[in-house]
Amino acid sequence: MKPRVLVTRHVYPAAISILQERCVVDYQDTYDVMDEAQLARKLALADGVVCQLTDPMTRAVIGAAPRLKVISQVAVGYDNVDVPAATERGVLVTNTPGVLTEATADLTFALLLAAARRLPEAERFLRAGEWRRWDVDLLCGGDVHGRTIGIVGLGRIGRAVARRARGFGMRVLYAGRRPAPADVEQELRARRVPLDTLLAESDFVSLHVPLGPDTRHLISVAQLCSMQRHAVLINTSRGAVVDEPALIAALEEGLIGGAALDVFEHEPAVPDALLQLPNVVLLPHVGSAVTSVRAQMCAIAARDCAAALTGDEAVQHPVNAEALS
Ligand code: DGY
Repeated sequence: MKPRVLVTRHVYPAAISILQERCVVDYQDTYDVMDEAQLARKLALADGVVCQLTDPMTRAVIGAAPRLKVISQVAVGYDNVDVPAATERGVLVTNTPGVLTEATADLTFALLLAAARRLPEAERFLRAGEWRRWDVDLLCGGDVHGRTIGIVGLGRIGRAVARRARGFGMRVLYAGRRPAPADVEQELRARRVPLDTLLAESDFVSLHVPLGPDTRHLISVAQLCSMQRHAVLINTSRGAVVDEPALIAALEEGLIGGAALDVFEHEPAVPDALLQLPNVVLLPHVGSAVTSVRAQMCAIAARDCAAALTGDEAVQHPVNAEALS
């Protein structure tokens, strides 16, 4: 009998075809988000699920799915999945790293440039019909070339950001739990420093850590107070890595120069205070939003889900391989 797979929300169609070759697929092509109760109900008969960062794959939901063997997340981040609960139940979790690295690094740099050169502000000014003439000090921003970028988390995406920063002639600092391999440090000319030093010395601070218990509110009052008054905080990781009320206070009080945010603590809610601030660039979690990238993410998740259920091929991106032992 073919295994049953729930696909929780709209995905690129090729992913459905991949699954249908080997599985019975429960799929409604909808953008609606299921809550825990709806997910639990839908998972009652499922052997596998292809889910997204909007799906609360909590301990309760996993516990309500007696047949579940694999959770395949269409994202590199999987903080919406209770991995310890899955592991205890012997449920494999997979994700989609790699394919989105360059797209996310591009978007990070777009945010950095937009904040430094005040691009959204300048565009709003022009569209509002306020542009009367060229002035020597009209909408002047800050330098990028020659400035220091502090990268928090020098994983795949952090390294790709560092490469771009080198291209802009920037000095690269990084902070992380472990030092990067010597050849990587050499290639990127990146120097590992304690987080405090990074915050104190960087003109741009860019966050590239996964969200977990040790990184929730990694950037809070004390860290924001350590930053330079002109520095810009860029976040393309997860909103809750930053203490959002503390960030708003820091921006309002001029403790830092600006922020460029693709992610928020309670998405899709964006605090009104952020919307009001002129020195903040705001995007709706589009770091990896390149059509070819998103299509690959869907296909990778589908392939790994089918692979885990049929055993026909090796699972490419297990998060908790120990669940199978
Ligand atoms: C991820 O993959 O974790 C991003 O946030 C969405 O692409």
